[in-house]
Formats: sequence, C-alpha cells, structure tokens
Amino acid sequence: MKEILIAPSILSADFSSLYDEIKSLKEDGASYLHFDVMDGHFVNNISFGSYVLNCISKKVDLIKDVHLMITDPLKYYLDFVKAGADLITFHYEAIKEEEILLLINKIRENNVKVGISIKPNTDVKKVEPYLSFVDLILIMSVEPGFGGQEFIESSLEKINYLDKKRKENNFLYKIEVDGGINNLTAPKVIENGADILVSGSYIFKSKDRKNAIKLLKGE
Ligand code: DX5
Ligand code: ZN
Repeated sequence: MKEILIAPSILSADFSSLYDEIKSLKEDGASYLHFDVMDGHFVNNISFGSYVLNCISKKVDLIKDVHLMITDPLKYYLDFVKAGADLITFHYEAIKEEEILLLINKIRENNVKVGISIKPNTDVKKVEPYLSFVDLILIMSVEPGFGGQEFIESSLEKINYLDKKRKENNFLYKIEVDGGINNLTAPKVIENGADILVSGSYIFKSKDRKNAIKLLKGE
C-alpha cells in the first residue's frame, strides 16, 4: 500500500499564532508543510514571502514545501533556498518556456528538490518535456489564489495521466495535488495516483487535526 503524505497549507492557518498552529502537525501525521507564496500578480492575492519561511523553517521538523505562485520565479527562488526550502515548485505559466530547464537546474544545484505546477486550464501535456528532470508535479485542483475553493474534478484526468506516464517511463517524480482536498476528494486523487495531498482549510478548520489527517490518508 503506497504511503500517502499530507502537506498542510499554512495559507489557512491563524497567522496571529502561526507557530502554535503548526507545531503539532508532525505528531498529527503531516510530513510536509506547504507554503503558498502569492505575489498579487501571477494570482489575484498576496500572501507572504521568504521571511515567513525563514522564521519557522528551523522550528518545525516537516519538509518545507514552497509553492511559488509568483511571476518571474527565476528572480526569487534563491530567497526561498536561503530561507530553508526543501522543495521549490514554480508554475509552468509563470516563466518563459526556454527558461524552465535553467530554473530547474538552478534550484537543484542548491540541493533543493524541484517541482513544476500547472493551473486547472493548462494542458498536462505542456509539462511532458520536463517529467524526467523534476522531483514533483503539482496539479492545481482549484484556480490558484485562495484556500477554501471547490475541487475541480477534471484534475483527476491529469493525475491519472501523470501516474500512467511515470509507470511507462520509470520516471521518479511525485504527484502532489493542491486545492479543495478534504475527506471526500482525497480518496479520488489517491485512486488516480496522487502521492502528496496539500490541504489548507480542511485541516486548519478541523477541531481534530489528527483525525482530519488520518481521514485524508484513508486510514
Ligand atoms: C490556492 C492554494 C490553496 C491552498 C489549499 O492557490 O494553493 O489551494 O493551498 O487550500 P484548500 O485546501 O483550502 O483548498
Ligand atoms: Zn499550494
């Protein structure tokens, strides 16, 4: 049975007590901590920058999973490397096609894992040329910008496609899904091949986070 890993998104946490909100997530069953970085340009919202990661990266024993929903990730990725990122995912739609491999290599040469993400309206075939170069593909199952949105069902076909592709080619990338993940949508994405589930509002609005994470894993 494949291990399903959970990545709580701090976007839905209460920032007035951020450390208290995240300090128990590891014992609650989370493996990753997902940082939804938004610049108000690539997406219609502004969240936080590398300083927040810098403040907490040494305080939590979770894989720091940085999701750059920003224009020009080439310009900013290094700030997140220095702030303690273990994994940096940028958007296919946010960078010139001819710069994608350059960015992948620059992140990797800093000993940080690299992911590429696509928005709901982007064809999954767009990332095919990069599948052998990345550690992770992040499928956005909502329009990036806000937590608490409805899961977009068509994401399942993309997950399934990527799962088949990696089996056929022995690719090693993980499939991460982000947006609208709760106890009802989690089984669907897992069934189609997802490995890592990002979840914000479902976890942080739950009274019993340990149980919420267990339900996401299907335990
Ligand atoms: C959207 C964000 C959200 C967040 C998860 O840009 O990336 O998807 O991580 O939020 P929920 O789990 O509340 O949909
Ligand atoms: Zn995200």
